Amino acid sequence: MAMENINPTGTAAWTELQKHFADMQNASMQEMFAADKGRSEKFHIQWNDFLVDYSKNIINEETLSLLLKLAQESGLASAIDSYFTGDAINRTENRAVLHTALRAPESAGVEVNGVNVMPEVYAVKNKIKGFCDGIINGSQKGYTDKAFTHVVNIGIGGSDLGPAMVVDALAYYKNNLEVRFISNVDGDHVMESLKGLNPETTLFVIVSKTFTTQETLSNAQTVREWFLKSAKQEDVPKHFVAVSTNIQKVTEFGIDENNIFPMWDWVGGRFSLWSAVGLSISLAVGFENFDGLLKGAHDMDEHFKTAPHDKNIPVVLALLSVWYNNFFGAESEALIPYTQYLQKLAPYLQQGIMESNGKSIDRNGNPVQYQTGTIIWGEPGTNSQHAFFQLIHQGTKLIPTDFIGFVQPLYGNKDHHDKLMSNFFAQTEALLNGKTEAQVKAEFVKQGIDGDKAAFLLPFKVFTGNKPTNTLLIDKLTAETLGSLIALYEHKIFVQGVIWNIFSYDQWGVELGKQLANSILDEIHSGDVKQHDNSTEFLLNYFLKKKEY
Ligand code: F6P
Repeated sequence: MAMENINPTGTAAWTELQKHFADMQNASMQEMFAADKGRSEKFHIQWNDFLVDYSKNIINEETLSLLLKLAQESGLASAIDSYFTGDAINRTENRAVLHTALRAPESAGVEVNGVNVMPEVYAVKNKIKGFCDGIINGSQKGYTDKAFTHVVNIGIGGSDLGPAMVVDALAYYKNNLEVRFISNVDGDHVMESLKGLNPETTLFVIVSKTFTTQETLSNAQTVREWFLKSAKQEDVPKHFVAVSTNIQKVTEFGIDENNIFPMWDWVGGRFSLWSAVGLSISLAVGFENFDGLLKGAHDMDEHFKTAPHDKNIPVVLALLSVWYNNFFGAESEALIPYTQYLQKLAPYLQQGIMESNGKSIDRNGNPVQYQTGTIIWGEPGTNSQHAFFQLIHQGTKLIPTDFIGFVQPLYGNKDHHDKLMSNFFAQTEALLNGKTEAQVKAEFVKQGIDGDKAAFLLPFKVFTGNKPTNTLLIDKLTAETLGSLIALYEHKIFVQGVIWNIFSYDQWGVELGKQLANSILDEIHSGDVKQHDNSTEFLLNYFLKKKEY
């Protein structure tokens, strides 16, 4: 089934949602909660180890049914079919989008251009397992016959953010290999990352889908030169492996063909951590945990594929996000995990969400007349409470926020976890209810504040509340639940792309800067600044005059 190109603003649901918005824009969540004691019962989804309570949103049953109608009129059901069955839904690059196949069972029989890709997927998985087992148990050694102690992942964007985020997130399950990540072409970052490493016991994993990315190739080159200061050319195969679709370029770089872990053009960079791009994850936590991550993601895939849309976590979260983005005019969304382990989740999802849905041309090739991709940002709680929560509580912008928390801590520290989770619940309650004038006045009485001082302070101390949040309460942070969580957001991205009628799986917008950087690099090398806009010329000349290296 092909994906249809439907302008969302032309649907009946959109028009009805616009009318409905006029009734809802000033609706009070506090009043809706007061009027309906069973609101959470109505607006939550419980699935496996996940409880998603979305009752703290500015919605009623009509809102939800109109949003579901929008999904239905946008052809979401057939789009989901196309997504999972390998249709070339990435039309501008004429590719299928099949990261879901990487976590499917071998028997799934997923086809690309009539060829079942599962045997290849499992061959690479077996290669990952064999390789990681050898490095972890020390049977595969470095050039001086010592076991490996460190792994350095060299990649950028999707070839860095996913593995870096997961390695951090699963730190509790880590073995004794230390994994570092080099991404930025900033040479200082490279040198800092190499500090203290012993070339005899360090494995380098070069990850680049295209193997043409300037940052990764420069960094790999520099790291190889650093390695060759201690080792010989013939030692390179023992210490350098690569993950790429571009086998020719990898071999040209000098990496042994046996050390190449292939991937496929039907896996987008920002959705690739499930492929061999996740090699450093598997090295850090062992293949069993890597496989657990894939299993958790596959479970979420099944949920997304089969659950009715009103009980479908990615669908409901995507629709709520459309409600705020396209009707309330919300400019951004925040993501606040109440665990330090997920400190890199927001930066990881920034690529997933913003590179996918930051588009302004619809699937018919016309400029869109409505808002698309949301801006996503966030930091773990409770740190973020002491940083930017002021703006979410009392600023002028509406910032729908996802709160992600876990019932069980990993080290079992009850005192800390009770405190952490009391903050988790308190924040969504505060964002919902705010603090009324009457409550503030009552506090003043208790504190003995009265007269002019009380009158002056009153408006500053009132919180309007009515700020929307979703609460994702998950039993425990494991490889499986993490896999499900990441897949949830991947599918949310997909649903929103379908509704906004855009192509979510290309990224032409990052190309122009890359092209210009290449020609500016020539000018920096030659010292001969060519014609640019006046500002760029001015800056380049200033830089060239001052630089001393
Ligand atoms: O930033 C653009 C981009 O193409 C991303 O989509 C991708 O994840 C990243 O560059 C790295 O690309 P590669 O894996 O080919 O080096």
